[in-house]
Amino acid sequence: MAESPHTESTLSPSDANWWRQAAVYQIYPRSFADSNGDGLGDLPGVTSRVPYLKALGIDAVWLSPFYPSALADGGYDVDDYRNVDPRLGTLDDFDEMAAALHAAGIRLIVDIVPNHSSNRHVWFQEALAAPKGSPARERYIFRDGRGPNGELPPTDWVGAFGGPGWTQVSDGQWYLHFFTPEQPDFNWDNPEVREDFLTTLRFWADRGVDGFRVDVANLLVKDLPADLPSQAELDAMDRTSGTHPLMDRDEVHEIYAQWRKVFNEYIPPRFAVAEAWVETPERRARYASPEGLGQAFSFDLLEADFDATQFHRIINDNLEQVRLTGSTSTWVFSNHDVTRHATRYGLPPLNGRNVKQGVEWVKAGGPAEDIDLERGLRRAKAATLLMLALPGAAYLYQGEELGLHEVADIPAEQRQDPCFFRGADYNGLGRDGCRVPLPWQADGTSFGFGANGAHLPQPEWFAPYAVSVEEKDPASTLSFYRRALALRHELQGPETLEWDDVDENVLHFVRPGNWHVVTNFGTAPVALPDGEVLLASAEVENGMLSGEATAWIRR
Ligand code: BGC
Repeated sequence: MAESPHTESTLSPSDANWWRQAAVYQIYPRSFADSNGDGLGDLPGVTSRVPYLKALGIDAVWLSPFYPSALADGGYDVDDYRNVDPRLGTLDDFDEMAAALHAAGIRLIVDIVPNHSSNRHVWFQEALAAPKGSPARERYIFRDGRGPNGELPPTDWVGAFGGPGWTQVSDGQWYLHFFTPEQPDFNWDNPEVREDFLTTLRFWADRGVDGFRVDVANLLVKDLPADLPSQAELDAMDRTSGTHPLMDRDEVHEIYAQWRKVFNEYIPPRFAVAEAWVETPERRARYASPEGLGQAFSFDLLEADFDATQFHRIINDNLEQVRLTGSTSTWVFSNHDVTRHATRYGLPPLNGRNVKQGVEWVKAGGPAEDIDLERGLRRAKAATLLMLALPGAAYLYQGEELGLHEVADIPAEQRQDPCFFRGADYNGLGRDGCRVPLPWQADGTSFGFGANGAHLPQPEWFAPYAVSVEEKDPASTLSFYRRALALRHELQGPETLEWDDVDENVLHFVRPGNWHVVTNFGTAPVALPDGEVLLASAEVENGMLSGEATAWIRR
């Protein structure tokens, strides 16, 4: 097998297309590296690990929210969009981190959370202090309640994490929150709200940020007439026509057209990627339009089983969509909201259900008994190697390069995720299990995460997954990711793909430059085509690729 040297990022600073085929690494900052020993990861922690990121060979970092926040939803409850949480650092620390990443050839994408602020945001505090019908209340969505004294919420809507979608304030009015009560939804019909987000985008773009990940990009615009539909009526409404009262309304794209003008004020234009869990690839494509955000996450592969037929269809559908919009596909298996893919793939097929919470896992009685962890990781490496060879951008989530599994056994009193506590109907373990601080060393109070423990408990089994251990082992998952990312830089060319062979167990495609990619979804070994095996996710012996594995071959 060819040993590939570490390669520098080959992207030039003025390249306006750097994002098209970038490998983007998501950092969940509170769980990445803790520089001051308070148990929470921070921005200087990220800066201290830039050499690690550079050696990994990624092109960009996407930083989940680092803004001041009470952490009612892991930082997706923002108190102040133009500042850094003092527990995570200062604006100067941010600048230092950005400079260090850029010096290493790594771009920086920050998370923008426009659907809702936190309830501690100065505007929401003003709204609470102001009377009914005041301009301060108009920045959010306040309504009178039902019932003789307005004691019932305006509708029976249920929030995305469970519980009522409305909360009452002291003068009797109610405000809407799609997520937790600590996350009041903005009123995007209000020009002040629109203007303020343009200011925020410019604020970070002026600080050298290269792009934005836009949180729940499909929810901002709402149509809320005086007579509101019930939850049952909402559930029955079509979500594909752009006319649903709460989600994926066509008018949302007017906002992104305005944002695009701001992005294009910069050289190179600032990049954006939409997080939009919408119903169809066609609806998703609207977010990826060059007149809008430019790129959108596709969660299709993430929701699929480890299955050749599903992968084949999804890859084709997604490539077809981007051919129509001129964007590039995005591929992702893990992020801070879903059960880690090494673990998912060790479960019985989920058929796209419960990706978010791993309910099946709980039902199955926990990891020790019913999960095949080894098989899960084997399949995850195969799927990742396939993904890294696809045209388009690949999104990776911190810790997957170590082969980390979901942490299941976090005691209830140490859990933080509102999904766990609010009894969302898909409630299982919530999302804390993929947010446990990374192991950098095999020992110490927090496996080298920081000097004084970690804000979520790390399990004993983290030790062999530590960076310090894997870095020394050429057969580790980390060494495998490093080789794959370095080779990807060398091999990545025009954004095309041709299928060579497709059957129920094997997918074989070819990228320009005779880069052949073979994934064996079955369990029996399959014969590889002739050529030099550049990298494989498992054993290749006598030209045979073992089961549940991928190989890259140059012919
Ligand atoms: C983020 C979640 C967050 C939610 C509300 C998302 O989709 O990825 O982590 O809880 O938006 O902001």
